[in-house]
Amino acid sequence: MYKDLLQKLAKGEDLNKEEYLLLIGNRESLRTDAAEAACRVRNEHYGRRVFIRGLVEFTNYCRNNCNYCGIRAANSELSRYRLTGSEITECCDIGYGLGFRTFVLQGGEDMYYTDDILAEIVRQIKKSHPDCAVTLSVGERSRESYRILREAGADRYLLRHETVNRDHYKSLHPDTMSYDNRMRCLYDLKELGYQVGCGFMVGSPGQTEDDLADELLFIRGFKPEMVGIGPFIPHHDTPYSEEKAGSAELTLFLLSLIRLTLPDVLLPATTALGTADPLGREKGIEAGANVLMPNLSPSGVRKKYMLYDNKICTGDEAAACISCLKMRISRTGCEIVTNRGDHNKNGGMINEI
Ligand code: 5AD
Ligand code: FES
Repeated sequence: MYKDLLQKLAKGEDLNKEEYLLLIGNRESLRTDAAEAACRVRNEHYGRRVFIRGLVEFTNYCRNNCNYCGIRAANSELSRYRLTGSEITECCDIGYGLGFRTFVLQGGEDMYYTDDILAEIVRQIKKSHPDCAVTLSVGERSRESYRILREAGADRYLLRHETVNRDHYKSLHPDTMSYDNRMRCLYDLKELGYQVGCGFMVGSPGQTEDDLADELLFIRGFKPEMVGIGPFIPHHDTPYSEEKAGSAELTLFLLSLIRLTLPDVLLPATTALGTADPLGREKGIEAGANVLMPNLSPSGVRKKYMLYDNKICTGDEAAACISCLKMRISRTGCEIVTNRGDHNKNGGMINEI
């Protein structure tokens, strides 16, 4: 009978919170059906294509102190690094040669990168690679800052909201951060014309099934172009070092529900999922995901961008990662494509470039 709820969702009908809760509570028996329905819906919108985005982790300095995050300011055990503009563009050039057409510049909230500095880096990348999309993932900034960066050519922005529950948000973050500012950022980004990605960790300390149902309702209402979710994984030098890791299986089930809720959303099978389960990324694709974000950061700094323990792919060269992924993905019956992979607003097939 719960299968009927999946069918309802797959047909494009809305579920209410109770119904989402029933699905989540009965995930064991629904997993296969949910994944099957999610892949069917994904294939209708995007085919069996998996899009790749090259991730450049360009600074591990961060002014914040999120309880879960290994690069939090208070972690004095971490050796910090910043990439220069030319180091960043060099990563993108290498990525371009490997077939990447989207670059994601991600970092802690590092105000060394002023609007001017960051805007110049974006302009440089867009100038060298006008056929590429630039995605920023640099946390909370002012609306004016987002406007300047958008004007400089940034196309997309990833900012996980982390949780829709205010109290839960408070428990995960220091008092200097607020749920309201997080949401303000997401709505500003949307209004400024970015393609926006939000998201949350699965199994972060204090998260309940009730919260997860609210996450799905929030995502349905906000309609982001992308949703990034991955299991929470403890980091040994954070206040959450002794907390339990989030479940890869629950993450996979939620990927399927997100796909069914927003059929044309871009959905990454994240590195955290691949860390929690050695086959996590493949399973993510089989659960309805269609994006992978391999690392393009210089190998010398990868081990320093440790948001959580045991992060995978921190030793490999970019080229090694991409051939590894191609092989892994081919086993799922999907195929990695190298185009910009824009969000498909019109419901038809996206254009190749
Ligand atoms: N485990 C899993 N994901 C994490 N992130 C940060 N710390 C952890 C962790 N310990 C996620 C957050 C952040 C994104 C960049 O990485 O959701 O938004
Ligand atoms: Fe860097 Fe949270 S510790 S954004």
